[in-house]
Amino acid sequence: MRDWPSTIEVAPSILSADFGRMREQVTEVLDAGARVIHIDVMDGHFVPVITFGPKMVSDISDLIHDRGGFADVHLMIAHLHRTLHRIRELGCRAGVTLNPATPVSALGEAARYADVLLCMSVNPGFGGQAFIPATLDRLPRMRELADARDERVQVEVDGGVATATIAAVQRAGANILVAGSAVFSQPSPGDAFRALGAAVAAPSGV
Ligand code: DX5
Ligand code: ZN
Repeated sequence: MRDWPSTIEVAPSILSADFGRMREQVTEVLDAGARVIHIDVMDGHFVPVITFGPKMVSDISDLIHDRGGFADVHLMIAHLHRTLHRIRELGCRAGVTLNPATPVSALGEAARYADVLLCMSVNPGFGGQAFIPATLDRLPRMRELADARDERVQVEVDGGVATATIAAVQRAGANILVAGSAVFSQPSPGDAFRALGAAVAAPSGV
Protein backbone atom coordinates (compact mmCIF):
# COMPACT_ATOMS: atom_id res chain seq x y z
CA MET A 1 0.00 0.00 0.00
CA ARG A 2 1.55 3.33 -1.02
CA ASP A 3 1.41 6.20 1.41
CA TRP A 4 -0.55 9.22 0.37
CA PRO A 5 1.39 12.40 -0.18
CA SER A 6 1.59 14.37 3.07
CA THR A 7 2.06 17.51 1.02
CA ILE A 8 -0.69 20.01 0.23
CA GLU A 9 -2.66 18.67 -2.71
CA VAL A 10 -5.51 20.17 -4.73
CA ALA A 11 -7.74 17.19 -5.53
CA PRO A 12 -10.01 17.72 -8.56
CA SER A 13 -13.47 16.20 -7.98
CA ILE A 14 -14.75 14.57 -11.16
CA LEU A 15 -18.36 15.08 -10.08
CA SER A 16 -18.22 18.34 -12.05
CA ALA A 17 -16.45 16.80 -15.06
CA ASP A 18 -18.19 16.05 -18.36
CA PHE A 19 -19.00 12.35 -17.82
CA GLY A 20 -18.90 11.78 -21.59
CA ARG A 21 -15.29 12.97 -21.71
CA MET A 22 -14.08 11.47 -18.46
CA ARG A 23 -10.76 9.99 -19.63
CA GLU A 24 -9.82 13.18 -21.44
CA GLN A 25 -10.72 15.41 -18.50
CA VAL A 26 -8.97 13.30 -15.87
CA THR A 27 -5.92 13.16 -18.13
CA GLU A 28 -5.98 16.95 -18.47
CA VAL A 29 -5.75 17.55 -14.71
CA LEU A 30 -3.15 14.79 -14.28
CA ASP A 31 -1.10 16.51 -17.00
CA ALA A 32 -1.51 19.78 -15.08
CA GLY A 33 0.07 18.12 -12.03
CA ALA A 34 -2.84 16.70 -10.01
CA ARG A 35 -1.73 13.75 -7.87
CA VAL A 36 -5.02 13.06 -6.04
CA ILE A 37 -8.30 12.71 -7.95
CA HIS A 38 -11.53 12.78 -5.92
CA ILE A 39 -14.26 10.33 -7.04
CA ASP A 40 -17.72 10.85 -5.50
CA VAL A 41 -19.76 7.66 -5.27
CA MET A 42 -23.44 8.48 -4.62
CA ASP A 43 -26.07 5.77 -4.37
CA GLY A 44 -29.37 7.66 -4.66
CA HIS A 45 -30.22 6.75 -1.04
CA PHE A 46 -27.70 8.39 1.26
CA VAL A 47 -27.91 11.37 -1.08
CA PRO A 48 -30.50 11.89 -3.84
CA VAL A 49 -28.13 11.47 -6.78
CA ILE A 50 -26.55 8.39 -8.38
CA THR A 51 -23.07 8.80 -9.84
CA PHE A 52 -20.70 5.87 -10.42
CA GLY A 53 -20.64 2.15 -9.72
CA PRO A 54 -17.66 -0.17 -9.20
CA LYS A 55 -16.69 -0.53 -12.89
CA MET A 56 -16.39 3.19 -13.41
CA VAL A 57 -14.40 3.64 -10.20
CA SER A 58 -12.11 0.79 -11.22
CA ASP A 59 -11.50 2.13 -14.74
CA ILE A 60 -10.85 5.68 -13.55
CA SER A 61 -8.59 4.42 -10.76
CA ASP A 62 -6.55 2.43 -13.31
CA LEU A 63 -6.03 5.62 -15.31
CA ILE A 64 -4.97 7.51 -12.18
CA HIS A 65 -2.69 4.73 -10.88
CA ASP A 66 -1.01 4.33 -14.29
CA ARG A 67 0.11 7.92 -13.90
CA GLY A 68 1.34 7.40 -10.32
CA GLY A 69 -1.61 9.26 -8.78
CA PHE A 70 -4.01 8.46 -5.96
CA ALA A 71 -7.75 7.75 -6.28
CA ASP A 72 -9.65 9.38 -3.40
CA VAL A 73 -13.03 7.63 -3.37
CA HIS A 74 -15.65 9.49 -1.34
CA LEU A 75 -18.45 7.03 -0.50
CA MET A 76 -21.82 8.70 -0.01
CA ILE A 77 -23.71 5.45 0.35
CA ALA A 78 -26.22 3.85 2.69
CA HIS A 79 -25.61 0.40 4.12
CA LEU A 80 -21.85 0.58 4.31
CA HIS A 81 -21.22 -3.04 5.30
CA ARG A 82 -17.50 -2.82 5.16
CA THR A 83 -15.73 -1.28 8.07
CA LEU A 84 -12.57 0.77 8.02
CA HIS A 85 -10.70 -2.46 8.75
CA ARG A 86 -12.25 -4.27 5.79
CA ILE A 87 -11.40 -1.45 3.40
CA ARG A 88 -7.81 -1.64 4.60
CA GLU A 89 -7.75 -5.42 4.27
CA LEU A 90 -8.51 -4.82 0.60
CA GLY A 91 -5.32 -2.80 0.33
CA CYS A 92 -6.84 0.68 0.44
CA ARG A 93 -6.49 3.47 2.91
CA ALA A 94 -9.77 4.30 4.67
CA GLY A 95 -11.21 7.60 5.81
CA VAL A 96 -14.15 8.91 7.77
CA THR A 97 -16.25 11.93 6.87
CA LEU A 98 -17.93 14.56 9.01
CA ASN A 99 -20.94 16.27 7.45
CA PRO A 100 -21.20 20.02 8.16
CA ALA A 101 -23.42 19.68 11.24
CA THR A 102 -21.47 16.78 12.78
CA PRO A 103 -19.07 17.67 15.62
CA VAL A 104 -15.51 16.36 15.67
CA SER A 105 -16.35 14.36 18.83
CA ALA A 106 -18.53 12.11 16.65
CA LEU A 107 -15.37 10.67 15.13
CA GLY A 108 -14.81 8.79 18.38
CA GLU A 109 -12.83 5.59 17.97
CA ALA A 110 -12.85 5.90 14.20
CA ALA A 111 -10.26 8.67 14.41
CA ARG A 112 -7.82 6.09 15.76
CA TYR A 113 -8.09 3.91 12.68
CA ALA A 114 -8.79 6.27 9.81
CA ASP A 115 -6.09 7.29 7.38
CA VAL A 116 -8.10 10.26 6.13
CA LEU A 117 -10.33 12.64 8.10
CA LEU A 118 -12.66 14.39 5.67
CA CYS A 119 -14.46 17.56 6.68
CA MET A 120 -17.44 18.37 4.46
CA SER A 121 -17.76 22.11 3.90
CA VAL A 122 -21.10 21.76 2.07
CA ASN A 123 -23.94 19.34 2.62
CA PRO A 124 -23.12 16.27 0.52
CA GLY A 125 -24.87 15.43 -2.70
CA PHE A 126 -24.14 18.16 -5.22
CA GLY A 127 -21.29 20.10 -6.71
CA GLY A 128 -21.26 23.87 -7.04
CA GLN A 129 -22.65 24.75 -3.60
CA ALA A 130 -21.44 27.68 -1.49
CA PHE A 131 -18.69 27.01 1.06
CA ILE A 132 -19.96 27.03 4.69
CA PRO A 133 -17.32 29.06 6.60
CA ALA A 134 -18.26 27.73 10.08
CA THR A 135 -17.06 24.26 9.05
CA LEU A 136 -13.48 25.58 9.22
CA ASP A 137 -13.69 25.74 13.02
CA ARG A 138 -13.37 21.96 13.19
CA LEU A 139 -10.15 21.74 11.21
CA PRO A 140 -7.54 22.57 13.88
CA ARG A 141 -8.94 19.79 16.11
CA MET A 142 -9.07 17.37 13.19
CA ARG A 143 -5.44 18.17 12.38
CA GLU A 144 -4.48 17.58 16.02
CA LEU A 145 -6.20 14.19 16.00
CA ALA A 146 -4.49 13.30 12.73
CA ASP A 147 -1.03 14.34 13.89
CA ALA A 148 -1.47 12.61 17.25
CA ARG A 149 -1.92 9.32 15.44
CA ASP A 150 0.46 9.56 12.52
CA GLU A 151 1.83 12.41 10.47
CA ARG A 152 0.70 10.56 7.34
CA VAL A 153 -2.99 10.87 8.28
CA GLN A 154 -4.62 13.25 5.85
CA VAL A 155 -7.03 16.05 6.68
CA GLU A 156 -9.26 16.74 3.71
CA VAL A 157 -11.88 19.39 2.96
CA ASP A 158 -14.60 18.96 0.35
CA GLY A 159 -17.17 21.44 -0.90
CA GLY A 160 -17.10 25.00 -2.18
CA VAL A 161 -13.30 25.11 -2.35
CA ALA A 162 -12.29 27.75 -4.89
CA THR A 163 -9.57 30.38 -5.34
CA ALA A 164 -11.36 32.64 -2.80
CA THR A 165 -11.51 29.99 -0.06
CA ILE A 166 -8.64 27.56 -0.63
CA ALA A 167 -5.92 29.40 1.30
CA ALA A 168 -8.09 29.73 4.43
CA VAL A 169 -8.94 26.04 4.25
CA GLN A 170 -5.29 25.08 4.07
CA ARG A 171 -4.30 27.47 6.87
CA ALA A 172 -6.99 25.99 9.13
CA GLY A 173 -5.31 22.59 8.89
CA ALA A 174 -6.33 20.72 5.74
CA ASN A 175 -3.83 19.31 3.27
CA ILE A 176 -6.12 17.59 0.73
CA LEU A 177 -8.23 20.29 -0.86
CA VAL A 178 -11.04 18.93 -3.04
CA ALA A 179 -12.31 21.19 -5.81
CA GLY A 180 -15.03 20.15 -8.25
CA SER A 181 -16.74 23.03 -10.00
CA ALA A 182 -13.71 25.27 -9.43
CA VAL A 183 -11.79 22.90 -11.74
CA PHE A 184 -14.19 21.18 -14.12
CA SER A 185 -16.79 23.92 -14.59
CA GLN A 186 -14.05 26.22 -15.88
CA PRO A 187 -13.09 26.65 -19.55
CA SER A 188 -9.74 24.93 -18.96
CA PRO A 189 -9.67 22.43 -16.07
CA GLY A 190 -5.88 22.24 -16.31
CA ASP A 191 -5.45 26.00 -15.96
CA ALA A 192 -8.06 26.11 -13.17
CA PHE A 193 -6.17 23.38 -11.28
CA ARG A 194 -2.93 25.37 -11.58
CA ALA A 195 -4.66 28.57 -10.41
CA LEU A 196 -5.89 26.82 -7.26
CA GLY A 197 -2.37 25.57 -6.56
CA ALA A 198 -1.07 29.12 -6.97
CA ALA A 199 -3.78 30.48 -4.65
CA VAL A 200 -2.60 28.11 -1.90
CA ALA A 201 1.04 28.92 -2.46
CA ALA A 202 0.52 32.69 -2.50
CA PRO A 203 -2.62 33.52 -0.50
CA SER A 204 -3.95 37.00 -0.90
CA GLY A 205 -6.61 38.76 1.12
CA VAL A 206 -8.46 35.69 2.45
C1 DX5 B 1 -20.33 16.96 -2.88
C2 DX5 B 1 -19.09 16.19 -3.26
C3 DX5 B 1 -17.96 17.05 -3.68
C4 DX5 B 1 -18.22 17.91 -4.88
C5 DX5 B 1 -17.63 19.24 -4.53
O1 DX5 B 1 -21.17 16.14 -2.15
O2 DX5 B 1 -18.64 15.40 -2.18
O3 DX5 B 1 -16.77 16.29 -3.87
O4 DX5 B 1 -17.66 17.47 -6.08
O5 DX5 B 1 -17.96 20.13 -5.52
P1 DX5 B 1 -17.59 21.68 -5.41
O6 DX5 B 1 -16.09 21.76 -5.30
O7 DX5 B 1 -18.13 22.24 -6.68
O8 DX5 B 1 -18.26 22.20 -4.16
ZN1 ZN C 1 -16.67 14.51 -2.38
